[in-house]
Amino acid sequence: MKLMPMFFEVYKKFIFMLPPEKAHEISLYIAEKIYGSYLKRFLVSKPNSRNENIMGINFPNKLGLAAGFDKNGDYINFITNIGFGFIELGTVTPKPQFGNPKPRIFRVKDDQAIINRLGFNNKGVNYLKNNLLKIDRGIPIGINIGKNSTTKIEKAHEDYEYCMEQIFFLADYITLNISSPNTKNLRDLHSESSLNFFLKQVKKKHDSLTKKHRKHVPLVLKISPDIQYDSLESFCKIAIDYEIDGIIATNTTVDKSVLNDKSINIEGGISGKPLLNKSNNLIKAIKDQVGSKINIIGTGGITTKESAIYKLECGADLLQMYTGLVYKGTNLIREITSNIK
Ligand SMILES: Cc1cc2nc3c(=O)[nH]c(=O)nc-3n(C[C@H](O)[C@H](O)[C@H](O)COP(=O)(O)O)c2cc1C
Repeated sequence: MKLMPMFFEVYKKFIFMLPPEKAHEISLYIAEKIYGSYLKRFLVSKPNSRNENIMGINFPNKLGLAAGFDKNGDYINFITNIGFGFIELGTVTPKPQFGNPKPRIFRVKDDQAIINRLGFNNKGVNYLKNNLLKIDRGIPIGINIGKNSTTKIEKAHEDYEYCMEQIFFLADYITLNISSPNTKNLRDLHSESSLNFFLKQVKKKHDSLTKKHRKHVPLVLKISPDIQYDSLESFCKIAIDYEIDGIIATNTTVDKSVLNDKSINIEGGISGKPLLNKSNNLIKAIKDQVGSKINIIGTGGITTKESAIYKLECGADLLQMYTGLVYKGTNLIREITSNIK
C-alpha cells in the first residue's frame, strides 16, 4: 500500500468516529489551512492536463468536484489544488439559510453511500461572491444556484435570477439546481409546464446578463435520477429549445431500493456507489434524446477508475464526484484522471 492511501485509511478510522457533518467541517478546515500555507507547494497535485474544450470552456481534465462539497467557497485553496479539472461551488441561495435540523447527513458505510437531507444550508450568494473575489483562479469554477426554502415554487425563477445576477461575471458556468430532494416541491420544476415557464424567465435574465457582460456563461441544468422516464423526452426537448449547454446527471436519489440494506429508513437523498447504475441509465437515456446538442456531466456513484471510465462510455462528456472522495480520499482523483481519456 502506498503512503498516502495508507495515511488516508488511518485518518478515516478516526474521523469516521465523528458525526459526518462535523467530520466534513473539521477535515476541510484543516485541509484549507494547510493548502493556504507555505506547505501547499509540497502538496499541490497539478491536474493531469489534457485540455478538453467542452461548452466553450477549457478543462485541464474531465473530472470535477460535485456541488455541495464546498457550498460557500470556504475551501477553494484545497479543492482547486488536488488534481480536479474543475470544481462546482454551491448550492447557494439569495439569502443565507440554516437548512434542515441536524443530524442531516448519514453514512451507509457498507454501501459506500451517504444519505443527506441538508436542505440547502448555505451562507448566501453574496458571501460566496466575496470569497470568489479574493482568490487567484486556476481551474474552471462552476456555481450552483437554488432557491430559498421560503420562496414559493411558482416564484423560484426570481431566486435563480437574483443569484445569477450576483455571480455571472465570476462563474465559468452556472448550474440551475432543480433536483435536490430536500427542498419542498423543488423537483416539480421537472414537469413540462413548470420547466418551460421557469427556463423562459431564467433564460431572459441570462440573455440580458450575456449582453451586459459581453460574455457567454454556459447554463447547466441538474437533473434528478428519480425523473419519470416518460417525462424525459419533454425535459430534454425544452432544454434543447432554451439552448441549455449542459445537463448534470444526476443529483441524489430518494429511491431506497438502490441500497443493499433494505431496512435503512433514513429520509434524504442517497449518493455514492448505490447510485451508479440508476444515474448511468439516465445518462444513456438523455444521450439518446440530446445527442451532441447538450453536453452531459455524469455524476453519481463514481468510486473507482472503472466506474469513471464506464460513465464516460454511457455518454458523459465530463464527470463529477463527491461521495467517492469521502470513502476513498483524494488519491482517487489521480487514479481516475490518469486512466480516463
Ligand atoms: C452531503 C451532500 C451534500 C450535497 N449538496 C448538494 C448541493 O448543495 N447541491 C447539489 O446540486 N448537489 C448536492 N449534492 C449532490 C452531489 O453534488 C452529487 O450530485 C451526488 O452526491 C451524486 O454524486 P456522488 O455519488 O459522487 O456523491 C450533495 C451530496 C452530498 C453527499
